[in-house]
Amino acid sequence: MKKTLLAIAALAPLALALLYGWVHEPALPALPAPPKPDSALVAAGARVVALGDCMVCHTAPHGMPYAGGLPLRTPFGTIYSTNITPDPETGIGRWSQEAFRRALRRGVARDGHLLYPAFPYTHYTRMTDADIDAAWHYLMSRTPVHAEPRANDLLFPLTWRPLLAFWNALYLKTGDGAPPAATGAVARGRYLADTLGHCGSCHSGLTLAGGERQPPFGGGMIDGWTAPALTRLTQGPAPWTESELADYLRTGLSRGHGAAKGPMRPVTERLADVPGEDVAALAAWLMSIQQPAATATHTAVAARPAATGQALFEGACAGCHATAAPMMRLAARPALARSSAVLGEHPATFIQTVLQGIAWPADQHGQAGPYMPAFAATLTDAQIATIAADVRAAAGVPAWPDTERESARLRKELPR
Ligand code: HEC
Ligand code: HEC
Ligand code: HEC
Repeated sequence: MKKTLLAIAALAPLALALLYGWVHEPALPALPAPPKPDSALVAAGARVVALGDCMVCHTAPHGMPYAGGLPLRTPFGTIYSTNITPDPETGIGRWSQEAFRRALRRGVARDGHLLYPAFPYTHYTRMTDADIDAAWHYLMSRTPVHAEPRANDLLFPLTWRPLLAFWNALYLKTGDGAPPAATGAVARGRYLADTLGHCGSCHSGLTLAGGERQPPFGGGMIDGWTAPALTRLTQGPAPWTESELADYLRTGLSRGHGAAKGPMRPVTERLADVPGEDVAALAAWLMSIQQPAATATHTAVAARPAATGQALFEGACAGCHATAAPMMRLAARPALARSSAVLGEHPATFIQTVLQGIAWPADQHGQAGPYMPAFAATLTDAQIATIAADVRAAAGVPAWPDTERESARLRKELPR
């Protein structure tokens, strides 16, 4: 007994040293001053950064672009994005190309600390070297902003970053920087979706440990919204076509289905800025991952239920959503009965749309986007549940269970 204890005591420092060697990443040298970007690569980098949604996460509401500070709420606490402008003190102005590449490929900051996977490096890791380098040149060409990163608000022990080495061992499949072997639109779309688009970080759903569920794209929840399965888009009563998908991704509105709302909205706003061929490639890839429909589970519901639902809908919604409403006739808007928000298995997206409405887009192209007022202040959870049942019945699908309770839960989490 005594001998075993002695052996453990002797070996423990060795084990700790090995573990330390494993989790420890060296600091990489700082550049003496922010580098001069290459203008040809800056243009290529603009496309990469738009496809990668870098600005979406690295800009706080009303904040300077790329200066960080956006709170990302996770089940483990709140993580704030960092400043990736070329400011030498608070940004990445002194990060070499090598340091930047290591961050995207392995989730390690220049000084060697491990980054939280709220930064989707598990996807960016498979970017090509050419795309990563172009992104570096583009970011180095932005206006430097002096902004200290905000401290995270995480549950212990996750505040201790070396733990992330274990998470990485489970979930990080490091890429080698080589371009995809296959060519053509589907292969390009697959590359974009897997790496820059990181579509799976919302559409695959998360395991308890915060990794993405396998097989991918089976649907998930993000910030209280449903991110629908991407493998069943051609099933159900309102199947998508390839050109509808391309329209939706590029403009945020498909006349056949509805508008991009919640966390999908910024994704489509950025895709508006990338070449049409990249969006077409994403649509082609989406069509290639569709599963054949399982046996029909769709039960038609004939009559609309209680009159109160209809009356509430007439009062609050019909002005815009009734078939004869001017918005529907003049602007040729999609019918509610074709939207995944109504047809989906889960009511979250319907409830969030009614509670929060759909804001005017901050659109630099001067395009008037979809607008819907928020009803959080005017409708109760019971009323929202009643309207939901009515809208579901009108679409020919059975009411969701527990809509009222779900509405109460989501209302508590509304962004203030
Ligand atoms: C889903 C949100 C999200 C997206 C999209 C995103 N980032 Fe980040 N990024 C973060 C967060 C959060 C951190 C901070 C992580 C931490 O502190 O551990 C971060 C950190 C970084 C860092 C490390 C900076 C530092 O100071 O340590 C770099 C570099 C970076 N991101 C670059 C990018 C690039 C380039 C893109 C686009 C290709 C991008 N990010 C897209 C959320 C995001
Ligand atoms: C930040 C999370 C997030 C990311 C990243 C994301 N999505 Fe989404 N997506 C959502 C949410 C939430 C919805 C539902 C929103 C709605 O109904 O308006 C959605 C809706 C969609 C829809 C409509 C589905 C339907 O049935 O109505 C498509 C198609 C789609 N996303 C494709 C993509 C593709 C392709 C990518 C990657 C390029 C992507 N999404 C990246 C969150 C995300
Ligand atoms: C001022 C006009 C207006 C009113 C009033 C309004 N909406 Fe909307 N709603 C819109 C617009 C615009 C969209 C975006 C889609 C589109 O353009 O058709 C939308 C989208 C939706 C969607 C998502 C459909 C999609 O795009 O996927 C749902 C669900 C919805 N509305 C429900 C309601 C309900 C329920 C009410 C009443 C409580 C209501 N709306 C009241 C204008 C309105």
